Amino acid sequence: MDVKTLAVVGAGQMGAGIAQVAAQSGLSVVLLDVDPDLVQKGLAGIRAQLERAVSKGKLKAEESRATLARVKGASAAQDASQAEFAVEAVTENESVKKKVFQDLARSLRPEAILATNTSSIPITRIAASVDRPERVIGMHFMNPVPVMQLVEIIRGAQTSDATYAATRALAEKMGKTTVLSKDMPGFIVNRILIPMLNEACFALQEGLASAEDIDTAMKLGTNVPMGPLTLADFIGLDTCLYIAEVLHKGLGDDKYRPAPLLRQYVDAGWLGRKTKRGFYSY
Ligand code: CAA
Repeated sequence: MDVKTLAVVGAGQMGAGIAQVAAQSGLSVVLLDVDPDLVQKGLAGIRAQLERAVSKGKLKAEESRATLARVKGASAAQDASQAEFAVEAVTENESVKKKVFQDLARSLRPEAILATNTSSIPITRIAASVDRPERVIGMHFMNPVPVMQLVEIIRGAQTSDATYAATRALAEKMGKTTVLSKDMPGFIVNRILIPMLNEACFALQEGLASAEDIDTAMKLGTNVPMGPLTLADFIGLDTCLYIAEVLHKGLGDDKYRPAPLLRQYVDAGWLGRKTKRGFYSY
């Protein structure tokens, strides 16, 4: 399948990032959100990112203009009816995602592929909610999308070989490296990452070391760009807790139980960077 037009549903940070990278790789993009203000914010964010790249001399001004011209904002799935492929990146709520998939299935041509950027909801369940389950797949981008090289592809129980091949080709066209995961809780990255971040919360809670020393130890000791508590703040502590709960419930093993300290921070509304307070202040 030759994808020329991509629909991206959800104009938040992930959706805008996916739209930007797709447009930079030459695709026409329709960036959809039920909230018109979010569409405008998403488009402004893409413009700002491109302008920054131009000012750093990493992108030519005319390429930036051409990229922006390839992204159109819209508010209803019908506005993306020409898209051969859609990526959904709305809030991590199963009933909201299922509704988006049903709208897309009604509005896009029958052969269009519908991908979800979910980090925690089973692809198999989302697929079962539409009339084309073999054309539904997980396409999990990492944050920040323009910087991170990886796309995890997750095959639901119903996903066809052709859908997988087209998804992989699209991710590669967007300059990404793919890995293939079964549809199990947390897929690959979060299955391994979230227990590590959760363990850092337990270590802090137990007074093993200060937050700064835990992060310095892991940053310099294992050569990662951010220590685990800094990364948890970056991802959002509510998101980390939610995924930890998905692992705990889905895998049924107490080794995945969320750290009480993580839960307490979320209860306090200290969600990390986005609320300017988490393990650190911003
Ligand atoms: N959007 C686009 N570009 C961004 C960006 C953003 N939000 N943040 C940083 N960048 C770019 C900068 O423009 C800069 O680009 P150039 O090299 O072209 O100038 C580059 O990234 C480096 O940025 P900085 O110098 O400002 O900062 P840094 O070197 O500290 O890097 C970082 C910032 C890229 C975020 C780096 O710290 C990093 O890679 N951190 C780990 C991120 C990570 O692990 N993400 C995965 C989270 S897990 C996930 O997403 C899955 C899930 O389901 C929870």
